[in-house]
Amino acid sequence: MTSLTEPLLKVTSLSCRYGKVTALRGVDMEVNSGELVTIVGANGAGKTTLLRTLSGVLPRYQGTVFFAGEDITTMAAHRRTELGICHVPEGRLMFAELSVADNIMLGAYAHRNDDKWLKKGSDEVYELFPILKDKADDPAGTLSGGQQQMVAIGRALMGRPKLLLLDEPSMGLAPLLVADIFRVVRKLNRDGITCLMVEQNAKAALKIAQRGYVMETGSITMGATASELLANEEVRKAYLGH
Ligand SMILES: Nc1ncnc2c1ncn2[C@@H]1O[C@H](COP(=O)(O)OP(=O)(O)OP(=O)(O)O)[C@@H](O)[C@H]1O
Ligand SMILES: [Mg+2]
Repeated sequence: MTSLTEPLLKVTSLSCRYGKVTALRGVDMEVNSGELVTIVGANGAGKTTLLRTLSGVLPRYQGTVFFAGEDITTMAAHRRTELGICHVPEGRLMFAELSVADNIMLGAYAHRNDDKWLKKGSDEVYELFPILKDKADDPAGTLSGGQQQMVAIGRALMGRPKLLLLDEPSMGLAPLLVADIFRVVRKLNRDGITCLMVEQNAKAALKIAQRGYVMETGSITMGATASELLANEEVRKAYLGH
């Protein structure tokens, strides 16, 4: 049964392996409905692996994942998308030859027969990113990195996310665009989308988040409010550059 106080996402003792390499070791974490939670950690800590395990593109080895009170531990990726778990993957993963509009529409697969949503959702995406409307017919591969990141977010929004998983949305972007992307993520969260965001740009990410986790070699080593993490001496030294 789903109770009001239950987290939207609850992960218990989650482990994941690539062959003999253990990439996640007993991860416990949760995201409450309406929250924006960020995960910080060094290269190779297991952040991408965690998101991929949550969206179901990677099988878990041990542990459980509950979403809105339902055990989704072994549920297929496409069914998780239908439940509203939508993933903006690391590196954006566009179909470079397909148009911007078609890339965005791919995210609506679970709602492909809902004409009303297809119109409303794409209107919302183009309102959020007006530049994409001008480029709707261009091949996605011709867009700048920042514009491709917008397409990747737009594509995930077409899935009507209840939980948006964002993997390094600011990666490789110029500082002004980084600020734009964080502004968009904050807006989406304020508009009611629960977000779990992985970011190397830890300071900016923690500034818009309510809570955060620190990940080291496959484990969560710290979990606290964003302001506590921003003020924490060890976190500052290791991830915030001072
Ligand atoms: N396909 C794979 N096959 C084998 N090992 C992998 C694979 N993908 C990742 N790993 C290993 O799993 C560990 C976690 O990788 P992961 O990509 O999840 O880290 P990350 O925290 O996202 O790093 P980054 O900040 O560089 O994106 C690393 O040791 C990595 O080498
Ligand atoms: Mg990664």
